[in-house]
Amino acid sequence: MCGIIGIASRTEFPSRVLLERLKRLEYRGYDSYGFYDSRNLKKRVGGIDVEAAGRATTRTGIAHTRWATHGGATERNAHPHVSCDGRVVIVHNGIIENHEEMRKSLEKKGHRFASETDSEVIAHFLEEGLKRKPAEAVIVDFFAAAAGSFAVLAAIKGREEIFALKRDSPLVLGAADGMNILASDIYAFSDATSRAAFFENDEFAVVGAESFRFFDRKGRPIEKAMREFVWDQKESVKRSHKHYMLKEILEEPAAVERMLFSMENDQKAAFDGLIRLIRGSKKIIFAACGTSYHASLLGAYYLHRTGVESQTLIASEFRHYANVDRDTLIIALSQSGETMDVIDALKYARERSGRIAAVVNAPYSTIQRMSELSLHILAGQEVCVASTKAFINQAVLMLRIAREFGFPVDTDNVAGKIRLLFRKKARIREIAERIAASKDAYIIGRGLTYPVAREIALKIKETSYIHAEGMMGGELKHGTIALIEDGTPVLSLVSNNDPDIISNAREVEARGAQVFTITNDGRMERKRNVIHIETGNDGKFGILAAVAGQLIAYYAADKLGRPIDKPRNLAKSVTVK
Ligand code: AGP
Repeated sequence: MCGIIGIASRTEFPSRVLLERLKRLEYRGYDSYGFYDSRNLKKRVGGIDVEAAGRATTRTGIAHTRWATHGGATERNAHPHVSCDGRVVIVHNGIIENHEEMRKSLEKKGHRFASETDSEVIAHFLEEGLKRKPAEAVIVDFFAAAAGSFAVLAAIKGREEIFALKRDSPLVLGAADGMNILASDIYAFSDATSRAAFFENDEFAVVGAESFRFFDRKGRPIEKAMREFVWDQKESVKRSHKHYMLKEILEEPAAVERMLFSMENDQKAAFDGLIRLIRGSKKIIFAACGTSYHASLLGAYYLHRTGVESQTLIASEFRHYANVDRDTLIIALSQSGETMDVIDALKYARERSGRIAAVVNAPYSTIQRMSELSLHILAGQEVCVASTKAFINQAVLMLRIAREFGFPVDTDNVAGKIRLLFRKKARIREIAERIAASKDAYIIGRGLTYPVAREIALKIKETSYIHAEGMMGGELKHGTIALIEDGTPVLSLVSNNDPDIISNAREVEARGAQVFTITNDGRMERKRNVIHIETGNDGKFGILAAVAGQLIAYYAADKLGRPIDKPRNLAKSVTVK
């Protein structure tokens, strides 16, 4: 949540570059944005307009795109925030938990606040400290005084460098030609350099155009190694597609092939390592949120079918439900690798000596670095806030892992089957547009199609704003069936003619529901309300049904004219609790 960027350059550059780079982080939040280029400070509500920078040039600057936590999405609350005397300008991602207390104490010293945000205290705190001490020493004081999470970039009058502080919110430094770039994630600069230094917790750096110095929270210098990272650029361009979401769904076959190939080749050692870790553990607990949680539910289902003791917990509730000891393996699933709830669950597991493995999409992320072993799903950049191709790669990887334990499946033709399904786009679109006419929709599944039902419902909610519930078919009659009216759309996921889910669909149909079916029963193929999936394998059926559901969500949202790639109130990387 929130994206921050800072550039220190040897030569003058157009200030709009700050906003162009910031735009690459816009999926982290888009309530408001702002920048400071050492002369101009501008803030606006809404999505980033790079023209806002005008023709100005600069050698240093900081910028911020906001996902509001404290204080509404107004210009006043937009970053950067400035101290009273204008000497300190900051941008912040995270939450300063003790901001009220810090604010009161600064107000007593005469500071006047201009916004309702927690972040503004940082600017005032630094200004107050600078009256007596050099910036580095004031930052040491800030680490001691502040509670919560923060990635902060600060510009201080009289100093050419940018000051960068990190605790629990992501921050990385990229060394490009003639400039150093600070950002919330590597995507901000992955087109300009593949060399980066990752901040660990409670570290800060003083960053100039051609040099940087890292320190620990006590101000002691630390050595920081630059790392080479690999991040595919080609896939982050929308080209002729109307939306990134559709583009990213259509990339799924290639992404699946790339990942499966990698598991047999460059990631073979890590893949085998994870299999050994699973075999050597008494129980497996997945920890994940949102879409990644649904993929982990599939993982738990597939493994459970092979006799491996496994469960999954929503990361934000992990500490309330998990029983972790040294024989427990926690597998974190996360597209971004930065989700705060997952990081928190892993901290809890670590305190209890649990072993930790991760499955991530973004390389060198915090979650990966917290794990003793990690696999990359190689889905490529997802620009659309709603995750699609990462989910498919997570799910296919879960299936591939389960195959090692005896789950009967050939994963090699999954990509081909997805391509076949794409040929049915016209039918899928027709069904989606009928669903788009309702304000509610229900998606029902059983066993392995239950997680898929939940994922399809989440995609529909996120992108089309239709209220959608994904649920166990068996639970309908225990209450939710009361909501079924004449014409209510119910999408039923029927693998291998499962008689129980077929009965559940009949129960709602008898009460007037408009039933749509995703099935692998060839006899149903020509029926109007049916999407036919060509696979006899139920493991693969779930994944293919999810692809069909993603397309339903996309076409429904498109029909309704929604801002599909950047839905209201959302951010792709959820770095607050
Ligand atoms: C996906 O469409 C969502 N926007 C969201 O649920 C997401 O899956 C969740 O926040 C977890 O993110 P992660 O995979 O990066 O950890």
